Amino acid sequence: MESNERFDEVDAWQTLIFLYNSALKRMNTKIEILNDEFLHIHNYNPIEHVKSRIKSAESIVKKLKRHHYDVTLDNMVQHLNDIAGIRVICSFTTDIYTIAEMISNQRDVHVIQIKDYIANPKPNGYKSYHMVVSIPIYLSDGPVDTKVEIQIRTIAMDFWASLEHKIYYKFEGNAPEHIRTDLKECADIVEMLDARMLSLDQSIQKYRATYFTSHLEEAKELLPQQENSDDTEYLHQDNSKTNRNLNQSSAS
Ligand code: GTP
Ligand code: MG
Repeated sequence: MESNERFDEVDAWQTLIFLYNSALKRMNTKIEILNDEFLHIHNYNPIEHVKSRIKSAESIVKKLKRHHYDVTLDNMVQHLNDIAGIRVICSFTTDIYTIAEMISNQRDVHVIQIKDYIANPKPNGYKSYHMVVSIPIYLSDGPVDTKVEIQIRTIAMDFWASLEHKIYYKFEGNAPEHIRTDLKECADIVEMLDARMLSLDQSIQKYRATYFTSHLEEAKELLPQQENSDDTEYLHQDNSKTNRNLNQSSAS
């Protein structure tokens, strides 16, 4: 390879990494804003934390070779979906779908692929919701659609996946049978834990709603009198209208 060509290649590589970094920045900001908006409207934070990373050059080369592609920049852009990766960790299984929907509803985010390993866990017990999306990066001479892989999972699923990942590497993918069985059992415990935590959260929500309703009268007493009477006035007018309509319809 001529040295000029090599410079061009390095330049093209740096441009690509710059694009993937920009895509991560844009997606991270979007996710942060969605979380803030959710907190503002529902007084509840669906996201625990977010991690992101750019795949290392070494891992890119390994993955291209593993899939029998020539190691070229074109193949990397075309065939690898996870050069820019974001992991969104949330509290409850239901949050996963809320977050995925909020992301898909963004006008400039195009969903390329979805793998729902929560509805369909892997045989080893792996659970997570994967999306490959593309997002335009606006450069001076126009937009460039750039791919980002987003993995959404609960804290418990993330705990399991990081341990499984370590074991997988320790045994180079060939863990002994009893370790695989143990891991699968842990995945079942994770599933049960997530279900119980969700059900506990739902019970707490229900309790808070009932508590609020049953203490409504006491709460009203605490409100300033003027506001109270204004509200009663509105209610009174509404009721009288409704009553009139009811009377009319029963008369006809
Ligand atoms: P990779 O070649 O591993 O990237 O998989 P893929 O291109 O077929 O996509 P898939 O959506 O199945 O997996 C993407 C990513 O999810 C992986 O790179 C891992 O980060 C994670 N992942 C998938 N399967 C497992 C698993 O069994 N255990 C763990 N710990 N992570 C997994
Ligand atoms: Mg990957």
